[in-house]
Amino acid sequence: MRSLFSILSLSTAVTATFVHPGALHTTEDFERIRTHVANADEPWNSTWTLLTSSSYAQSSYTPTPKETVYRGYNGVDSENYPSLYRDTAAAYQLAIRWLVTKDTSYADAAVNILSSWAASLTDIEGTSDKFLASGLYGYQMANAAEFMRDYSGWASDNKTLTGTMLTNVFASMNTRFLEEHNGQDYYHYYANWDLCNLASLLAIGIFTDNQTMFDYAVNYVRTGPSNGALPVFGIANYTESGSGKILTQGQEAGRDQGHATLDMMLWGVIAQQAYNQGIDLFAEYENQILNSAEYVAKYNVGSDVPYTLYQSYQGNQTLISNASCGSIRPGFELLSAHYGQLKGLNSSWTDAYRDMVNSNSTGGVEGGGGNYGTSSGGFDGLGFGTLLYRL
Ligand SMILES: *[C@@H]1O[C@H](CO)[C@@H](O)[C@H](O)[C@H]1NC(C)=O
Ligand SMILES: *[C@@H]1O[C@H](CO)[C@@H](O)[C@H](O)[C@H]1NC(C)=O
Ligand SMILES: *[C@@H]1O[C@H](CO)[C@@H](O)[C@H](O)[C@H]1NC(C)=O
Ligand SMILES: *[C@@H]1O[C@H](CO)[C@@H](O)[C@H](O)[C@H]1NC(C)=O
Ligand SMILES: *[C@@H]1O[C@H](CO)[C@@H](O)[C@H](O)[C@H]1NC(C)=O
Ligand SMILES: *[C@@H]1O[C@H](CO)[C@@H](O)[C@H](O)[C@H]1NC(C)=O
Ligand SMILES: *[C@@H]1O[C@H](CO)[C@@H](O)[C@H](O)[C@H]1NC(C)=O
Ligand SMILES: *[C@@H]1O[C@H](CO)[C@@H](O)[C@H](O)[C@H]1NC(C)=O
Repeated sequence: MRSLFSILSLSTAVTATFVHPGALHTTEDFERIRTHVANADEPWNSTWTLLTSSSYAQSSYTPTPKETVYRGYNGVDSENYPSLYRDTAAAYQLAIRWLVTKDTSYADAAVNILSSWAASLTDIEGTSDKFLASGLYGYQMANAAEFMRDYSGWASDNKTLTGTMLTNVFASMNTRFLEEHNGQDYYHYYANWDLCNLASLLAIGIFTDNQTMFDYAVNYVRTGPSNGALPVFGIANYTESGSGKILTQGQEAGRDQGHATLDMMLWGVIAQQAYNQGIDLFAEYENQILNSAEYVAKYNVGSDVPYTLYQSYQGNQTLISNASCGSIRPGFELLSAHYGQLKGLNSSWTDAYRDMVNSNSTGGVEGGGGNYGTSSGGFDGLGFGTLLYRL
């Protein structure tokens, strides 16, 4: 199916069909995951234990949908977006629980969350941060929906309503941000803003079978004008002495490491979603996503990396920023699994950062929403990569 899709996608005259489920995860992935869980293989079993003990993965979970979500205090409306990231994390975790166990009580709880938000949400407001909400929670909710797509207990009207809400509320903001950047020039917003909105368009395009939306995001990654395009994101390449590896300095290296690691988590999401539809963004620009992950990972595990001056909209960044160096962020399991395990490339620094993150988490594995604090940063990534991506 994958090779057929690649051939078809060369011709715009042909309407290609999407693989389902096929955003972050495929049916084949779930066969592997179920086998590891059934055999209690490590480290999958410990990750599964962490997931099933999450308060977000319980069938009793009750969502608190809003009509308008606010992220960023605009001086009038109180921020209420934690409801959105908590409920979205719950929908995703419950969907995984259903896919592994086939117990429909988890499926019912997951679709209830999605359908309740679909019936209620009409707008995302606040400050410019509303465009972080549209990106981050857009890709996450669409992934939960994509999982539940084939659940017979999800009433088709509710499924349609969910797709309509994702398109009208999230995707329209995603596109608006990528086109207009909230009234600023292309360089104003750091890469993570584009990246989360691109991840969202890919996921919503897949869930709603919208080829136009999906293609727009893929083309933007390849040749877009701003920081979320691969060629713009890469600031400098260096050859690592000894290994001969290419390390790529990313756009947020001079800002802080919390955002530099966030970028790599989001690049993983973008590339994985495209990969499952037959487009290998991981490989493009000579594995630039790996090369940038290696650079970020190497610095964040405590080794020196070279740096080239970057002219940001806030002024010249003459040194790499060590602010939040060593920050703990889930998401590198995906990158290690793809490049190291699947492609057999040397991802040693990415692996080292992944291990550092895991060693700081319960069970020594990658957790997800709820395992990294209660604030939004702990919910930027869907996590549980040790279970979901390791081969
Ligand atoms: C699975 O992992 C959990 C948590 O680490 C552990 O308590 C349990 O004994 C493991 N199960 C098996 C069968 O090894
Ligand atoms: C649609 O979803 C809502 C919210 O979960 C639920 O109350 C309603 O029963 C669902 N409709 C059908 C037909 O299942
Ligand atoms: C598909 O996506 C495009 C681009 O985002 C959008 O303009 C269009 O309305 C979407 N189609 C549907 C049926 O939602
Ligand atoms: C880094 O290397 C890639 C792959 O060869 C290339 O496409 C890209 O332009 C290089 N980036 C810079 C900033 O030189
Ligand atoms: C920033 O760096 C560039 C390139 O080195 C230089 O031309 C420019 O004058 C610098 N700007 C400031 C404000 O230092
Ligand atoms: C960052 O660098 C400064 C100056 O070298 C140092 O004092 C500080 O401890 C470093 N912080 C981190 C998080 O590495
Ligand atoms: C992988 O790269 C690291 C340095 O980035 C190097 O130390 C290690 O020897 C390499 N591993 C292999 C198997 O080449
Ligand atoms: C990482 O682990 C250390 C030592 O156990 C702990 O002090 C620190 O708070 C942890 N950091 C995070 C972000 O979990």
